[in-house]
Amino acid sequence: MVNPRIAEILRSGQPDESLVVQGWVRTKRELKGFAFLEVNDGSSLANLQVVINEDLPDYAGLLKQINTGASVEVVGVLVASQGKGQRIELKATTVKVYGDADPDTYPLQKKRHSFEFLRTIGHLRSRTNSFGAVFRVRNACATAIHQFFQERGFLWVHTPIITASDCEGAGELFSVTSLNLKDIPKTENQAVDYSQDFFGKPTYLTVSGQLEAEVMAMAFSNVYTFGPTFRAENSNTSRHLAEFWMVEPEMAFCDLEGDMDLAEAFLKHIFKYVLEKCPEDMEFFNQRIDDSVLATADNIINNEFERLTYSDAIKLLEKTDVKFEYPVSWGLDLQSEHERYLAEQLFKKPVIVTDYPAQIKAFYMRLNEDEKTVRAMDILAPKIGEIIGGSQREERLDVLEKRVIAQGMKPEDLWWYLDLRRYGTVPHAGFGLGFERLVQFMTGMGNIRDVIPFPRTPQSAEF
Ligand code: 4AD
Ligand code: MG
Repeated sequence: MVNPRIAEILRSGQPDESLVVQGWVRTKRELKGFAFLEVNDGSSLANLQVVINEDLPDYAGLLKQINTGASVEVVGVLVASQGKGQRIELKATTVKVYGDADPDTYPLQKKRHSFEFLRTIGHLRSRTNSFGAVFRVRNACATAIHQFFQERGFLWVHTPIITASDCEGAGELFSVTSLNLKDIPKTENQAVDYSQDFFGKPTYLTVSGQLEAEVMAMAFSNVYTFGPTFRAENSNTSRHLAEFWMVEPEMAFCDLEGDMDLAEAFLKHIFKYVLEKCPEDMEFFNQRIDDSVLATADNIINNEFERLTYSDAIKLLEKTDVKFEYPVSWGLDLQSEHERYLAEQLFKKPVIVTDYPAQIKAFYMRLNEDEKTVRAMDILAPKIGEIIGGSQREERLDVLEKRVIAQGMKPEDLWWYLDLRRYGTVPHAGFGLGFERLVQFMTGMGNIRDVIPFPRTPQSAEF
């Protein structure tokens, strides 16, 4: 028999039920003749209150062993609780301690710790209320994503992590090599001789699964990827990771309008799902982390996103009295302060900006008739800035070849990608959602390092 988890016991446990509970002790309170333990097994924010009576064998020895952080198995009977704060509690008949936790050295004593401190104990922080709630919500977001696409007949495709192409063309690549770094083979011109490397050419960790997702969309019509991506961009901000998860749908026979409609429906679905599955955790974020979390969720679900072109966004930014650190003018990329001004202050909801200048966007985006802008769209969220980046793809072979060359890439390196335009090309579109930015947006967590279990950032790869 599988023992019920604490979440289920708290939801539907009845007095007189006999149970076995396994978990970690959050607190111990000793009173005259008995003690209370708060036990948590990660299934919910709330703990199960366990009552240990002094008539248990070796009561004193047991209590000495049980401190915050200890792992226990409690066999007992559920009783209606006399105290406030819980409906039921577990009256212990036996308690087994798996492992104790020395109160002099265990770092998670009962008090509030800063997120900075908790980052230094990344192997233990998931045992706190905040990180428990974050990772349950993260799990619910992932489930909602699969549910959304599966219900709509999208095929989940697995794209490679090691690749020879730089999808975004931004040069933020981590190299993958099996060459001996102490004795790198060189060619006659003193360049690295990659013909001797594992794959016979330079390879990298992927920055995006998009190019391969396009391949699969040209056979299955609608597909999505959900996997890790890597960027060696040296940005130490609260919204950048070197390793993050991205969700990338790709749709054949789809234009930018269809792409935006899907992205908006997608975000609404995830918020609805999480509110339904994790009400207690979401309430916790609203109370403890950011008191606008529930209002934001409501706003996302019930209001249409604002849509405007990049050119109109620039006009609005030029008109405002707000002083920005970075300049605003047509042709320059929007900085996070501009994105946040639009979403947070001006429209007070997510904003979809379309038709960016071609020169600041990737080679694969479809060129507009003005030949200056491309069919790109970024979704900007309050507090986060860019949460989704997408586009209609260039399906015309001649135009795409010119764009590849203009961006300093070699068409022959992308021969297979160009072949998609040679054989049965169709209008198609897709986008990428930064999964951690979504979890930040959902929970109100200020730092992206605190929504992924093991963050990878410049100078930091502990745990
Ligand atoms: O805008 P990006 O670079 O778009 C692409 O990679 C496209 N190939 C997607 C597509 O059309 N299939 O990245 C997509 C999203 C961003 O909007 C952002 O949310 C997130 O990925 N992102 C990051 N998240 C965390 N840390 C980083 N360093 C990120 N860089 C991008
Ligand atoms: Mg982008």
